[in-house]
Amino acid sequence: MQPRDLSAHVPYEAGRGIEETARELGVAPEELTKLSSNESAWGPSPKAVVAIREAATSVHAYPKASHTDLTAKLADQFDVADDQVWLANGGDGALDYLARALLAPGEAVLVSDPGFAYYAMSARFHHGRVRSYPLSKSDGFTQRADNVLEHYDGERVVYVTSPHNPTGTEMPLSEVAALADGTDEETLVVVDEAYAEFSESPSAVELVRERDDVAVLRTFSKVYGLAGCRLGYALVPEDWADAYARVNTPFAASELACRAGIAALDDEEHVRKTVEGSREACEYMYDNLDCRTFESHGNFVLAEVGDGTRVFEAAKREGVIVRDTTSFGLPECVRITCGTPAMTERAVDVLNEVV
Ligand SMILES: Cc1ncc(COP(=O)(O)O)c(C=O)c1O
Repeated sequence: MQPRDLSAHVPYEAGRGIEETARELGVAPEELTKLSSNESAWGPSPKAVVAIREAATSVHAYPKASHTDLTAKLADQFDVADDQVWLANGGDGALDYLARALLAPGEAVLVSDPGFAYYAMSARFHHGRVRSYPLSKSDGFTQRADNVLEHYDGERVVYVTSPHNPTGTEMPLSEVAALADGTDEETLVVVDEAYAEFSESPSAVELVRERDDVAVLRTFSKVYGLAGCRLGYALVPEDWADAYARVNTPFAASELACRAGIAALDDEEHVRKTVEGSREACEYMYDNLDCRTFESHGNFVLAEVGDGTRVFEAAKREGVIVRDTTSFGLPECVRITCGTPAMTERAVDVLNEVV
């Protein structure tokens, strides 16, 4: 017996973990500087840590009230109705719910190249086809509606990542609106704002409030430092928000994740520290890396180093783990997550040595 034909499916390549790399190099994890997965170097929100500890004694029960409370809190924050908030097991889980709700077998989605791998993976899991639009390095990876529309051919879902992983560019709101205007009535534009808190640009949530063909994706993995909790959500148009009840996995986010999320939303001090620290790290990398860097609106910087795999391997041997972006379609680059000053300085020193 065999699973169905999975030959078109590509495994997700996560950034190298600190413990696996430490074992491979025969060193202690503390000796490594890990800046490969866009995790937060400022750790989890301390308020979330307290909430997780407090919730630990009640995890024998399925999450009900916590799910409802977090949904209501997010709905209030974004000025949408509660049922427009689709909580999920990470932003990735929310992408799955959108694919489940939107894609009939054989329908296609349009993704950016280079870009975040999970859009295509999720579409394929849901028996969808994948097409892509290019973002060009010679154009500084600028994100414009006309570029996407040039490659659009009636796909059911068009993914925009703003700020974009791994390039750091944004699509201005007017361009997102132009893109939604230029696509068919039955096409959904999903604006993935996993890194939005690091940016000063307005969120596409205002388009979610105004239209029925734009959704926004958000996560607690980045600015709130809760990647290990797995908590994310989609904000979807009111007209079809009730589809969640028909596509979600029961208890879509865990009790610990929901309690952590509720607490993290109130931890403004931690958000401020994380955003400021990340901006300083970006500036430090632009100013001190001896290679081309691209301006980033996220908590990471893309650097053109020549041979990304060689530089990744050489930096790893020196104890610095960055992201080889070959799997994103950029073999000449690496992506470096923002770290604390000590982490970022070490990464820059090592990269300058090995480039
Ligand atoms: C652009 C983008 N979207 C979504 C995600 C998913 O995040 P998570 O599933 O941890 O919420 C990531 C994670 O790196 C990302 O870079």
